[in-house]
Amino acid sequence: KKVVLAYSGGLDTSVILKWLQTTYDCEVVTFTADLGQGEELEPARKKAEMLGIKPENIFIEDLREDFVRDYVFPMFRANAVYEGVYLLGTSIARPLIAKRQIEIARETGADAVCHGATGKGNDQVRFELGYYALNPDIHVISPWREWDLTSRTRLIDFAEQHQIPIAKDKRGEAPFSVDANLLHISAEGKVLEDPWDAPEEYVFSRSVSPEDAPDKATVITVDFEKGDPVAVDGEALSPAALLTRLNQLAGDNGIGRLDLVENRFVGMKSRGVYETPGGTILLTAHRAMESITLDRGAAHLKDELMPRYAELLYNGFWFSPEREMLQALIDKSQDKVNGQVRMKLYKGNVIVEGRQSKDSLYSMEHVTFEEDSVYDQRDAAGFIKLNALRLRLLKRQHN
Ligand code: ARG
Ligand code: SIN
Repeated sequence: KKVVLAYSGGLDTSVILKWLQTTYDCEVVTFTADLGQGEELEPARKKAEMLGIKPENIFIEDLREDFVRDYVFPMFRANAVYEGVYLLGTSIARPLIAKRQIEIARETGADAVCHGATGKGNDQVRFELGYYALNPDIHVISPWREWDLTSRTRLIDFAEQHQIPIAKDKRGEAPFSVDANLLHISAEGKVLEDPWDAPEEYVFSRSVSPEDAPDKATVITVDFEKGDPVAVDGEALSPAALLTRLNQLAGDNGIGRLDLVENRFVGMKSRGVYETPGGTILLTAHRAMESITLDRGAAHLKDELMPRYAELLYNGFWFSPEREMLQALIDKSQDKVNGQVRMKLYKGNVIVEGRQSKDSLYSMEHVTFEEDSVYDQRDAAGFIKLNALRLRLLKRQHN
């Protein structure tokens, strides 16, 4: 028996590692990915070695560029937003982790994979739908649904019994649960559970509060090619570097904070406090870019399908035929989404100031309030009259 564990190097996944070795009696392969969560990865290697993992069974990978290029950007082409507000920062990272685990299982001849998500959340569903979609015969181990280390005390006891180092601040209960990557950081649970109580300032780590943001606006430009951002302020940047830059600019201006109650796939409502600084700029910028480059029919169809696409991602169906079909349609719509958007960042707001494109469909010639020779206003009379026909018949009949 050999299992690939999604390993953060933290206390919980270290306990899982030991539990797999002792209770499940299997050989463990650890997989630790840098998705831009802002933590050093080398300590995870040291810790894995210390817990008896063979060097050839330790996988540590910087996946930031893959994450942004192949997951975040395709999602932003759709303007995906779940339940009107959530930019899906956690949801979009899970398929990539699942995919690499399955690939590493194949490379190392492992027959099982393991994750550290609880049995009450969305993440377990996202990981496991990903695993099964990519390897129908994979064995899935979900310790939180199986073991009896359900209280903090038992978990700490187990760690102590097995010489797992425990950071001082990890002895007590964490004030809330965190998930982080380059797109967002989430805080949920514990002190945040009452949806009437405002989050304290210490919950936030990627943005200043709008009150503390500069009194002077920051003006930036973002360039797009085929619906993807490629430059900030005229400087071409790789996907991960670009998102990092936008995170900085947005965070400095108090942009991207969200306090919501969402509907989890497993059925309950949960309260979350998220920060998606760069993503918040990106969504506004992308919509502004589409506003001049997309035809109305294309734009409206996309908008109708968007909630469906967002729900698929939220529920963990990234690797599904329906997501891939929608993605093909969305990608096709982006062929002419090229150009530049100029925005003002100011105290929590992203304010679009300008947009331009060589592929613009916007016609000053047609829209002008001045007299023009391309649009005959008399045509509008028949257009309105025919559209009104059934309304008039209806009113006449039921008067
Ligand atoms: N509720 C959000 C979602 O389902 C964030 C989940 C955060 N996950 C975590 N393990 N802390 O996408
Ligand atoms: C978890 O259960 O691991 C966090 C919450 C979620 O996945 O929705």
